[in-house]
Amino acid sequence: MTPPERYGERLLSPGSSDERRRLVALERISDDDTIRCLEKIPLGPSARCLEVGAGAGSVASWLAGVVGPANVTATDVDTRFLAPLAQAGVEVVRHDVVTDPPPDGEFDLIHIRHVLEHLPGRDGLIRKLASWLGDGGWLVVEAGFHVPGIGGHPAHARQKAARSRLLAEKIGTDLTWATTLPAPLVAAGLADIRLQGSLRPCRGATESAEFDRLTLLSMGEDLVGSGLLSRQEVDEALALYEDPAFVDYSAGAVAAWGRRPPRHG
Ligand SMILES: C[S@@+](CC[C@H](N)C(=O)[O-])C[C@H]1O[C@@H](n2cnc3c(N)ncnc32)[C@H](O)[C@@H]1O
Repeated sequence: MTPPERYGERLLSPGSSDERRRLVALERISDDDTIRCLEKIPLGPSARCLEVGAGAGSVASWLAGVVGPANVTATDVDTRFLAPLAQAGVEVVRHDVVTDPPPDGEFDLIHIRHVLEHLPGRDGLIRKLASWLGDGGWLVVEAGFHVPGIGGHPAHARQKAARSRLLAEKIGTDLTWATTLPAPLVAAGLADIRLQGSLRPCRGATESAEFDRLTLLSMGEDLVGSGLLSRQEVDEALALYEDPAFVDYSAGAVAAWGRRPPRHG
């Protein structure tokens, strides 16, 4: 069934006032894991890199530091937060990974984080991304999941469940898909598969709670309007994110990566 909306069209729109801050908060909880994974990939000094759904741009910026800005392409359906990268010499391209033809060139590394869980046809998109790799090129896929059983507080667990359900109903997000990795990479013909997983602590009154706080603020009206949460439940969860005594370990992330074998003939 086709979901009624697409990511960012209305929910989590880049045009909403706190969206850049929300994406930067996501980078702050994700970049250490990403860099730990990317540092394991042998990239030559001028390897061609593609960052898909680059958001606020921290990973493309890190890659530019490794291979040089001219070797990095950063795409997104909405590139408004990527202007500083373009000024630094990264090629910034407005591009829809679902519908648009491939960006120019073959890549030695393609990285995509917290995008595919929100998009329709995600396993097919992995095959498509794999076909944009040059021989021996690496595809790195990162996606998030929830482990509801270990939620640190009922109000937090309720808002996580409500958020997942609203995103699933409205845009087709699947926050269980990450746990199918690396199967879609294997099915896409990639070799030398590696996996990394982590739980992401969320502690009140610290940077680690900021992504949950801003996401709940962004989706609060829709969550109340759809009857998934009461306003009081939204306020209760928001208060937790300011409370230093609150801690939760129910959010996780998987990174899976693999390499395109040489084509024959
Ligand atoms: C949750 S954010 C993740 C941003 C960034 N990858 C990160 O991890 O920090 C999802 C990003 O995917 C982008 N996006 C959504 N649909 C897309 C599509 N069809 N093609 C390309 N980018 C898309 C959004 O605009 C947004 O920047």
